[in-house]
Amino acid sequence: SASSLNKPFVPTQADYQKVYDAVAARLSDETDYDDGSYGPVLVRLAWHASGTYDKETGTGGSNGATMRFAPESDHGANAGLKTARDFLDPIKAQFPWITYSDLWTLAGACAIQELGGPTIPWRPGREDRDVAACTPDGRLPDAAKDQRHIRDIFSRMGFDDREMVALIGAHALGRCHTDRSGFDGPWNFSPTVFTNEFFRLLAEENWIQKKWNGPKQFTDKSTGTLMMLPTDMALMKDKGFKKHVERYAKDSDVFFKEFSDVFVKLLELGVPFKTEDRFVFKTSE
Ligand code: HEM
Repeated sequence: SASSLNKPFVPTQADYQKVYDAVAARLSDETDYDDGSYGPVLVRLAWHASGTYDKETGTGGSNGATMRFAPESDHGANAGLKTARDFLDPIKAQFPWITYSDLWTLAGACAIQELGGPTIPWRPGREDRDVAACTPDGRLPDAAKDQRHIRDIFSRMGFDDREMVALIGAHALGRCHTDRSGFDGPWNFSPTVFTNEFFRLLAEENWIQKKWNGPKQFTDKSTGTLMMLPTDMALMKDKGFKKHVERYAKDSDVFFKEFSDVFVKLLELGVPFKTEDRFVFKTSE
């Protein structure tokens, strides 16, 4: 009818599930990358889009998707994330009604689920902002630093010790690239499967400083092929952090539950939602 022409399109859960399905399909089609999946770099995009949040000023966070613009896209911490943004361009073209900021966070939730992680309930409502909303450099963590830095950065977002440790458990996924961060290698042998392996290895392996010309990082004594960042090692040096590393190393279910809760919280920091209800997306077969 003529009147329906002017009705704004109001997407439902089924529409967002279609976006989820399109991201999941693209993940399973595009395996000629890194360890065989764009999933890890999508998780990193969602995290870096969200982790700029500052609870004092209410600035930053996933609302806005300001990493589309320089200077934020050029911040050192965001090196390599163009790969993830480009991966999602065909999805944005297919579903032009979704904002970039909803799409990036939805894709992060999708990647966690598709790689075997816990369900990540998600809700829409983010709006894209322009270049003026770019956050200043220095809000994301520096891997060369210690536990004090981890607490400074993550308490600025509003997280406690337990939540900080759970979040960093995402380092079960993916790897470091010398041409992005300068660091090199994966944290475990299955970097495209979401597990508690990061914590098990951190707690149980013998980690020694890697001998190379690159930035200081650690390698496992038994194979010399895995890696830990200085900030990862700091989780074992600090009593308040270590008890959670050990809990998660022992109990995968506890890690999955606590990771899901804190990742949901991360993706929602600073977003003025109009709805309380979250969607639980169906994972692909
Ligand atoms: C990768 C640092 C917390 C998810 C990386 C890399 C660095 C890093 C240096 C390698 C980037 C590259 O060379 O490609 C840190 C530091 C953290 C932290 C210092 C906190 C102290 C987190 C959190 C998440 C996360 C909270 C998600 C919840 C990832 C993922 C990758 C990654 C999935 C792999 C990306 C890929 O394979 O391309 N991180 N990270 N990280 N990070 Fe973190």
